[in-house]
Amino acid sequence: MAKQTTNFTCQNCGTAFGKWAGQCDSCGEWNTLVEEKGVEVVPKGLGKARGNTIEFVNLQGTSEETPRLVSKMKEFDRVCGGGLVPGSAILVGGDPGIGKSTLLLQVVGMLSESSECIYVSGEESVDQVRMRARRLGLGDRKVSLAAATNVRDLITTLEKNTTVGVVVIDSIQTMFVDSLDSAPGTVAQVRTSAQELIRIAKRRGFSLLLVGHVTKEGTIAGPRVLEHMVDTVLYFEGDRGHQFRILRGIKNRFGATDEIGVFEMTEAGLMEVENPSALFLAQRRGDVSGATVFAGIEGSRPVLVEIQALVAPSALGTPRRAVVGWDSGRLSMVLAVLESRCGISFSGKDVYLNVAGGLRVSEPAADLAVVAALISAQNDEPMPADSVVFGEIGLSGEVRPVGQADLRLKEAQKLGFSRAYTPGWDRKKNPRADVGMRSNEIEHIGDLIDLLSTNESNSNKRVGAA
Ligand code: TYD
Ligand code: MG
Repeated sequence: MAKQTTNFTCQNCGTAFGKWAGQCDSCGEWNTLVEEKGVEVVPKGLGKARGNTIEFVNLQGTSEETPRLVSKMKEFDRVCGGGLVPGSAILVGGDPGIGKSTLLLQVVGMLSESSECIYVSGEESVDQVRMRARRLGLGDRKVSLAAATNVRDLITTLEKNTTVGVVVIDSIQTMFVDSLDSAPGTVAQVRTSAQELIRIAKRRGFSLLLVGHVTKEGTIAGPRVLEHMVDTVLYFEGDRGHQFRILRGIKNRFGATDEIGVFEMTEAGLMEVENPSALFLAQRRGDVSGATVFAGIEGSRPVLVEIQALVAPSALGTPRRAVVGWDSGRLSMVLAVLESRCGISFSGKDVYLNVAGGLRVSEPAADLAVVAALISAQNDEPMPADSVVFGEIGLSGEVRPVGQADLRLKEAQKLGFSRAYTPGWDRKKNPRADVGMRSNEIEHIGDLIDLLSTNESNSNKRVGAA
């Protein structure tokens, strides 16, 4: 069969196709197929030539562990699993303008105190980067700067440099390999550029930080196509209308995933937020209906956020269900459970749900908090201001236990909350650490509805107080 070298590549997932189609068969995205030369649809087989035999070694052998590079930006180091591993490649993805360049400039600014750092910008001129560094108060740091986009030049330069510890490439979509025909930003270019850079990072033992823009348009390849090539994938997310930015670990070969780092974007760059709960609850007013505080866990840390619900009569035939910061499918499930198990109907009513502060909650433990917010909004009765809620809900309306309940309760207590609506609890297995927290154990969401509609203070039990 003749080798096919012109074909169409999905700019979202990287799958190659022989002919154009409106939708990618592999990832389901529309309008992402772009013609690219030099990518083979059917890869060549191995042929008959023999390879070398591989020598196996014992798992028990000793391998020296090189110390990690610690930036002293605690939020960043934690998400990386305790600092950068020499020779590893890290992808930092995020929407344009969210603050990736700012974050990485601050990180290399901090790291430059202990190791040699290079910052390569393909998007901004040297003057622009300098100006930004000055604004961030990092103007005097020893970071080597370059505005470059040719990967061949970069490799030649890095090949000569044996002392460099950290290299930042901002962004991988602007880099190009001159032996490929396709334009910078296409899947072929992004993949090959990253491959070459990762190879030299492993060989030379420096940490490589790649910036990758997330895009909805089909013209630039997204970080998706790189996720499997790098050791660590971090996403920098947040609402541009809010100052909070969250650095989230998606994949990490050298640490736990699901860890988050919380930052606040200020005039002077990104500030670390050590106590995110206090920040997320800062603008809370305790006496409004439809608002409740969810005691959640993000990575290894408890985070308290406010969940807000609004229920309003709908003028539409199909009422609106609008969700910000939570899964809309999950909201539909919760509404269905409330309707069929408790007889609370939301038909003919618009339902809006919002996680205050721009955080995205993905834990099922938020179910009960959402139910509490919905009921409070429906009845126009504020939740007790000193209460937190957590618990997962099943389809029959039962409330299921969730992990790390003691951590959630301790955080709530630290922030001045004194009562909690929680799932039932096996005391013998889990002696509760929170002596003095008034706790309502909910077995079925019907119990929560009863509790909220009667005077709760009568039915509280004090847990832990012997
Ligand atoms: P940037 O790091 O350029 O985003 P990205 O590299 O992800 O595209 O950040 C751009 C935004 O950050 C811009 O809208 C301005 C804002 N910003 C601040 O608010 N304060 C600052 O100190 C800096 C440097 C940027
Ligand atoms: Mg940038």
